Order: sequence, then C-alpha cells, then structure tokens
Amino acid sequence: MAVNVWTLISNARRGIRFVLASAVVLLLVGIICGIFFSSWVRLVIDHELVLRPGSMTFDWWARPPVRPFVRVYVYNVTNADEFLNNGSKPILDELGPYVYSEEWEKVNITDNENGTLSFHYRRSYTFMPELSAGPDDDSVVVPNIPMLSATSQSKHAARFLRLAMASIMDILKIKPFVEVSVGQLLWGYEDPLLKLAKDVVPKEQKLPYEEFGLFYGKNGTAPEEVVMFSGGSDITKYGIIQRYNHRDRLPHWLTDQCNSIAGSDGSIFPPHITRNDTLHIYDKDLCRLLPLRYLKDVESAAGVEGFRFTPPEDVFASDEHNKCFCPAGPPCSPNGLFNVSLCQYDSPIMLSFPHFYLADESLREAVEGISPPDPEKHRLYIDVQPEMGTAMQARARIQINLAVSQVVDIKQVANFPDIVFPILWFEEGIDELPDQVSSLLRLATRVPPIVHSVLAWGLSALGALLILLAVTCLVRSSHRQSTLRLEGHAVSKPPPAKTPSKDNGYELNNRR
Ligand SMILES: *[C@@H]1O[C@H](CO)[C@@H](O)[C@H](O)[C@H]1NC(C)=O
Ligand SMILES: *[C@@H]1O[C@H](CO)[C@@H](O)[C@H](O)[C@H]1NC(C)=O
Ligand SMILES: *[C@@H]1O[C@H](CO)[C@@H](O)[C@H](O)[C@H]1NC(C)=O
Ligand SMILES: *[C@@H]1O[C@H](CO)[C@@H](O)[C@H](O)[C@H]1NC(C)=O
Ligand SMILES: *[C@@H]1O[C@H](CO)[C@@H](O)[C@H](O)[C@H]1NC(C)=O
Ligand SMILES: *[C@@H]1O[C@H](CO)[C@@H](O)[C@H](O)[C@H]1NC(C)=O
Ligand SMILES: *[C@@H]1O[C@H](CO)[C@@H](O)[C@H](O)[C@H]1NC(C)=O
Repeated sequence: MAVNVWTLISNARRGIRFVLASAVVLLLVGIICGIFFSSWVRLVIDHELVLRPGSMTFDWWARPPVRPFVRVYVYNVTNADEFLNNGSKPILDELGPYVYSEEWEKVNITDNENGTLSFHYRRSYTFMPELSAGPDDDSVVVPNIPMLSATSQSKHAARFLRLAMASIMDILKIKPFVEVSVGQLLWGYEDPLLKLAKDVVPKEQKLPYEEFGLFYGKNGTAPEEVVMFSGGSDITKYGIIQRYNHRDRLPHWLTDQCNSIAGSDGSIFPPHITRNDTLHIYDKDLCRLLPLRYLKDVESAAGVEGFRFTPPEDVFASDEHNKCFCPAGPPCSPNGLFNVSLCQYDSPIMLSFPHFYLADESLREAVEGISPPDPEKHRLYIDVQPEMGTAMQARARIQINLAVSQVVDIKQVANFPDIVFPILWFEEGIDELPDQVSSLLRLATRVPPIVHSVLAWGLSALGALLILLAVTCLVRSSHRQSTLRLEGHAVSKPPPAKTPSKDNGYELNNRR
C-alpha cells in the first residue's frame, strides 16, 4: 500500500515533469518562431516570386493583368508668327489629356537557364476618346523638330553647308513650325527632310525611318531583345535588366556607373524593399538609370500598404554627380534638364519633368502659358508593395523639350532664338492592380504578421502558462511531500512502540 502512494506521487511528479518539458519546448518553439518566422516568410516569398515559366508570377509578368494608360498633354503654340517675326515670347496652350490605353505583353520569352529570361516588349495603344479632352486628330502647332534638329546640329558645320541647307528647305517649303494632328505628332507623319535624308545620307548614318513621331514605333513589338534576371539565381537582382539590345551598358556616358542599365522596368523590383533603399528604373528613351528614393507611406484604394518612391530632387541637377552625363561639356544642360540627344540620333531633345518641375524657374519663364509646377500633378512616382516588390500604382511623368540653337545663316530660322522649347508632356502608368492581385498582396502582407504573433506569442504564452502551472504543482506537491516527511519523521521519531511498527505510508494511508 505504501508502494501505491509513492507510485502515485512519483507518477504525479513524472506527469508534471512531462508537462514542464512540453512547456519548455512550446516556449522554445515560440521563441524560435519569433526569431525566424520572418526569414521563413522571406524564403517562401522569394521562392514564389521567381519567374519560372508556368508559375503564376510568371504569367502575371508576361501578360500583366493591368490596364496601363498614357495621358498626353501637348503645348499648342498660338503665336508662331509673332514669335518668329516680332521676337515675342512663345505663348503656349496646354491641350489634353489625350488618353491612350495600353496593353503590355512580353513576347518570344526564352528561359536562358542561367537565371535570366530573354524577351521582347510588345505594347499596343488604343485611343480613348471618351477619356480625352478632344479627338486625337485635333490639330496643333508645334516646332518642326526634324528641321530644328538639323539646323541646330549644323551650327558647327561649314557655312556653305548651312547655306545649302537653307536652299533645300526653301525648295521643300519647310517651316520652323508645323501644323499636325496630335495623333501624327505622337505616332508619326511623313517628314520631307527625313525622307530626303533617307535618300541622300550615306547608309551608315541613315536615320532608321522617314516618318517622324515622338512615340514612333512604340505601338507594336519592340525590336530590342531584353535579358532580365528572373530571380532564380539571385533574388536581389529580381526583375533587373541585364542586357538591352545585346549591350549590358550604354555607350554614351563617361563612367561605368552612369552607363549602367541595371535597373527594373518599373513593374517589378527586388523584394524586401526598405525605406532606405534606392530603386532604379531603366528606360531606353530616358537614356540612363533613374534613381528613386522613398517619399512616404501610402495605401492603395484596395487597402494594400506600400511605399511611394520618387526621383531625388537633384536627379537632373547640373552638379558634380551628373557630370558623367555631359561628355561634350562644359557647358552642360541647365538645372532640371537631361540631354538625351545621344540616344535620339543627335536631335537636341532634352527631357525634364512636366512644367519644368525641379528645373530652373527661368526655363518656364522663357515661355508663356505654363503654370507653376505642382508636385502632386507633375512628380514622377511609383508606389511599391515592399515585401513583394510589386508596383501598385505609378505615374511616369516626363516632358519632352527641344533645345534650339539660333543659326543666323539659315534664313528660315534666323529669328528663332536659343531656347528650350517645351513640346509636350505625358504620364504613363497604372492606377490600380486588379482585385485578384490586390487581394493576394493584402494576404501576403497582413497574414504573416498575424501568424507570426500567434505562433510566437501564443506558443510562448502557452509555454509560460504551463511552466507556471507545472511549477505551482511541483511546489505544492513537494510542499505536501515535505510535510509528509516531517510528519513521518515525527511519527518514527518516538521510541519504537511496542505495537507493530507502522511505516509512514501506513500512517499516511490511515490518515487519509
Ligand atoms: C492650336 O493653335 C492653333 C493656332 O496657333 C489653332 O488654330 C488651333 O485650333 C489650336 N488647336 C486646338 C486643338 O485648340
Ligand atoms: C509685330 O510688331 C509690329 C509692331 O511692333 C506690329 O505692327 C505687327 O503687327 C506685329 N506682327 C505680328 C505678326 O503680330
Ligand atoms: C518571335 O518568334 C517568332 C517565332 O519563333 C519569330 O517569327 C519572330 O520573328 C520573333 N519575334 C521577334 C521580335 O524576335
Ligand atoms: C545568360 O544567358 C544569356 C543567353 O545565353 C546571355 O545573354 C546572358 O548574358 C547570360 N547571363 C548571365 C548572367 O550569365
Ligand atoms: C496600334 O496598333 C494597333 C494594331 O496594329 C492598331 O489597331 C492601333 O490603332 C494602333 N494604335 C495607335 C494609337 O496607332
Ligand atoms: C536608414 O538610414 C538611416 C540614416 O541614414 C540610418 O540611421 C538607419 O539605420 C538606416 N536603416 C536601415 C534599416 O538601414
Ligand atoms: C547635348 O549633348 C550633345 C552630345 O553630347 C552635345 O553635343 C550638345 O551640345 C548637348 N546640348 C546641350 C544643349 O547641352
């Protein structure tokens, strides 16, 4: 019977010990979850993001389920004659938006088996009259870009060439301003000078087309092959362009850093973005990497939280760190302008932000009719979901300007002063991801923290509670036991009784 009691006690103690052990295990698992859960989620995200043919992310990447658009605002010149003849400031009338919806696709995708994919961009544009301020055959008066490019370029040529140019332009009746429709200005119109150039200029220097349009050739499959990192070999390069048109850097600028094209195309970025990161986007027409820095926290209409990234204010500043973009200088382009002539067949095209945002005030004041820039309307930005690196909303806003140089020998443009002439600005972007993608992003951002807390805190709390219970029980039982012992001792202490000795257990049993 004594044995029974002891087994009972030791069983109870064993039980408590078992509970204690499990509690410690729970606590440890909770702590381990607390520490490592985020890295596990990272691993899962990294694994799921990789662009493997057949995966969901791949399908979304190849045929983005978004409705991108481009909104174009054209500066219509309303006083061309006075500007040329009387030296008045050009008066511009901002027309727009002319809205095109886009469809993005990547075609001829090849998996190179080395962590990269090769493909071509295919974009198609459809005019949206109901969203636009007018039809795209609205006629506008704009500087004759092919002509003014030719004359500006001839500035340093021999004088007889300039004179010859003047007579050719006379014969072809080429004027410094043209009246074209918005659609023609964007998608191309036949230009007599380009047509002529195509016939006379030696084959190697030939311009690739005889039509001129600011978005010429963009509607359709791009001829350039792009090689992009899929994230399979290195997730930190996810979505980064490795080669563009068989080059892995630009040939135009002075340093390797400025020639780099290792940027995203703006749709996906390497995941796990922090507020301290600088993102880079590369676009062929931008002719460089555009750095983007954290601006503020945002929440999309669908309730996904993200970070807004925008170019730093000095991105086009004429300062030390942009010197490498000025191979022919000094002088280099004024503050806030970026000279892309080397990427535009030597046309003196300068990019800026709309309304000369972040540029010298004097540029805007050289013309009339451009309101002061408003960051909300004219800033370029991309909202990214930081964990997945997905762009949720974007506005790529750029203004195209023509830097005209006065050339007195060519009579048609003799009165056209040195000026940075704004032509148009556009914003390209996406408003909102489809519900399907938004809910996935929401899930991916909201669920892991909840699971994390439940696992970490829940398990730890449960463990701690059990430990507490077990310890209490132990303390109690050991207390009871020591009482027993004491009692037993007390019982056994008296001189041996004559009656058959009862052991402690018996005593205890009796007592109970
Ligand atoms: C653009 O300006 C010209 C005058 O320079 C005018 O004839 C034309 O109607 C304007 N275009 C639009 C769409 O307002
Ligand atoms: C140019 O200015 C003169 C006088 O300053 C004026 O008579 C003429 O009409 C102006 N020309 C144009 C095209 O406005
Ligand atoms: C894409 O692939 C098809 C068939 O392989 C080929 O005919 C086409 O020329 C390719 N397109 C480009 C832009 O390389
Ligand atoms: C991967 O393979 C493609 C095609 O062979 C090649 O153009 C590219 O440079 C390679 N990239 C790397 C990182 O090796
Ligand atoms: C783009 O190309 C498609 C198909 O070739 C055509 O239907 C569409 O009108 C073009 N868009 C523009 C803006 O020219
Ligand atoms: C971010 O930058 C700030 C200031 O440069 C620095 O104090 C902070 O530690 C950085 N945070 C991270 C996560 O790198
Ligand atoms: C733009 O760059 C080209 C090529 O480097 C240069 O010849 C030209 O002078 C530059 N234009 C301006 C206005 O700085």
